[in-house]
Parts: sequence; structure tokens; C-alpha cells
Amino acid sequence: MSPASVENNHIKFMERPLIVSYSYSGNTHRIAERIRVMTGGDWCEIYPWQPYPMAFPELLKQVKKEIKSRYYPKLLPASYLPRSYSVIFLGTPNWCGTIAPPMASWINQNDLSGKIILPFYSHCGGAAGDFQENIVKRCPKADVREALSVIDDGGKSLGEILQSWMARNGIRVFQTV
Ligand SMILES: Cc1cc2nc3c(=O)[nH]c(=O)nc-3n(C[C@H](O)[C@H](O)[C@H](O)COP(=O)(O)O)c2cc1C
Repeated sequence: MSPASVENNHIKFMERPLIVSYSYSGNTHRIAERIRVMTGGDWCEIYPWQPYPMAFPELLKQVKKEIKSRYYPKLLPASYLPRSYSVIFLGTPNWCGTIAPPMASWINQNDLSGKIILPFYSHCGGAAGDFQENIVKRCPKADVREALSVIDDGGKSLGEILQSWMARNGIRVFQTV
């Protein structure tokens, strides 16, 4: 595993992190891309094997059903595996107050024991569940940090939002944007 050192709960040093994101309409991927530039990390976009419907009413109906039944959609093969990374940024849209099922699938199929997880999520200002708690429950053996909430793609404030979140975790950014 690439090393990371933690002092007083701050990440003092980390080797290249992994950034994993699922996005339906692009916002979460835009945040992930910015984190990639800031940290020099590797970026793994995840995609469900079966794309979601384009029309919102059908999409919402399917998503509600999947969340209620704890269904884990099959994913397309990922470009990076988490095994060799010690710090992982995890991004998902807020879907009905929780993480999107494709991200739940990814977490479910990977061993995240001992990893430092930095969760982030995009939302539109509606109901927000407890994302951090949600991730903690799904990966109890990981060190899950404060979940960052971003409205849409954060617009012009995104760089600042990300920098202060990383500073709260002691992460020095590779490149400010
Ligand atoms: C099926 C569905 C459910 C959603 N539920 C919520 C919600 O509960 N709360 C909220 O603030 N936004 C909700 N949204 C809005 C998305 O979280 C928001 O548009 C986000 O920026 C989308 O990210 P993406 O572009 O990466 O897919 C929902 C969107 C969809 C499609």
C-alpha cells in the first residue's frame, strides 16, 4: 500500500491518492477532476454496466427501488483498483439522501480496511442524509474523514471549498487551482 502518515489526526504525508467517482450528470466528476489536479492522484470513474434511464421520473423510480431493496448494480470494469492506495477520495451524487447505488456497489466489492477515506458528494440543496455515517457503516475498518458536501459542481468557489476541506485534514495540495 502507498504510505500515508497521520499526526494529530492530520494527514501529514500521502503518496499519490486514488479518486473514485460516480456521476450521473457530470457534477461529481467535475469535483473529482479538480481533486485529481490538486493532489496529483489517479482518477477512477465508475459506471454501472446497465446505464440509468434518461427520463427523470423513470430514473427516480428505479433509484428509489434500488435504495430500498439495497440492490448493488453491476459495474463496468474499473480503471484502477484500490489495493495499492492508502488514501482514497470517494465521490457520489446525493440520491434520495444517500449515496448512489453504483458507489454502494463499488464500496461493497472492494476491501477498504485500513484506508483513509475522504468522502465527497454533490447535491442540489435538498434533503441530505448523513453521508459520513453512511460510508462509516459501509467500510467499518477504514478511517473515514469528514464528508464534504458541494452544491452542484461548486461553481467558482470549488477550488476554495476543496482547499479548506483538505486543509482541515492536513493535506497539502499539489497544485492550487
Ligand atoms: C434520482 C435523483 C435523486 C436525487 N436526490 C437528491 C436529494 O435527495 N437531495 C439533493 O440535494 N439532491 C438530490 N438530487 C440532485 C443531485 O444530487 C444533484 O443534481 C447532483 O449535483 C448530481 O450530481 P451528478 O451530476 O454528479 O450526477 C437527486 C438527483 C437524482 C437524479
